[in-house]
Amino acid sequence: MDDIPKSAATYPPGHPTQADIDAEIADIRKNKPTSSDPNWGDHRTLIDYPPYRSSILRHPSANLELVDPETIELASPAFGHRDVHWTEYDLTTQVNGEPQGERIIVTGRVTDADGRPAANQLVEIWQANAGGRYRQKKERHPAPLDPNFNGVGRVITNDQGEYKFVSIKPGAYPWPNHENAWRPAHIHFSVFGNEFTERMVTQMYFPGDQLMPLDPIFQSITSPIGQKSLIAKYDHDVTVPNWALGYRWDIVLNGRNRTWFSSVDGPEEDE
Ligand SMILES: [Fe+2]
Repeated sequence: MDDIPKSAATYPPGHPTQADIDAEIADIRKNKPTSSDPNWGDHRTLIDYPPYRSSILRHPSANLELVDPETIELASPAFGHRDVHWTEYDLTTQVNGEPQGERIIVTGRVTDADGRPAANQLVEIWQANAGGRYRQKKERHPAPLDPNFNGVGRVITNDQGEYKFVSIKPGAYPWPNHENAWRPAHIHFSVFGNEFTERMVTQMYFPGDQLMPLDPIFQSITSPIGQKSLIAKYDHDVTVPNWALGYRWDIVLNGRNRTWFSSVDGPEEDE
């Protein structure tokens, strides 16, 4: 037991604790403004959510300027179907050997509000490895990298709007929002439409994760419907015997029950 470090991080005096953050989350929930406030609709989140300390840095501070979308599209990346190799759906076979961890299958449908499939859509994911470590330069979590896991995958939805990934269940990881802050296990998702400006980014969570109530990013989605829209369901019919556990997560692009999407992207959003 003496080998277990008390903390791998040092915190400055006055750095908030999880109890401080919990109290702030509870206070905001108690004093939730009426739904007439446009920031508190069914699926909206507050632009500034104080318990999520860096949220104030994650949006424009001046009014947006309207620009011609066609100009943006000319200078922005475009993805053709041929850019995505069919093997990219499997994050466990991208390197030489198999990655460590619990193999999972994540599948679902991308649809509009009426259940019509969003076919031929590019779905991208990125995630931490089983130890909760991303393969990126800014990573500070002292968990081991897995040489057999890159943590990124892509797939194009089929005619029914279905996607499927094979991966490793990501681990929870610490982040510097407050003392002893940990992100619940999650997979980042990006869904492109047919144009660059249609990109939507969000995070998928796993059912039963005890860290979700403590996480100011997850809690910044104040609507129970919005929160629920981001939690995958365990699906035993997706589970493959002796091989992998299966999860189902459907993505609804619009309408009242649409999946909650963030306006930010990239692994740095947890910073
Ligand atoms: Fe993340």
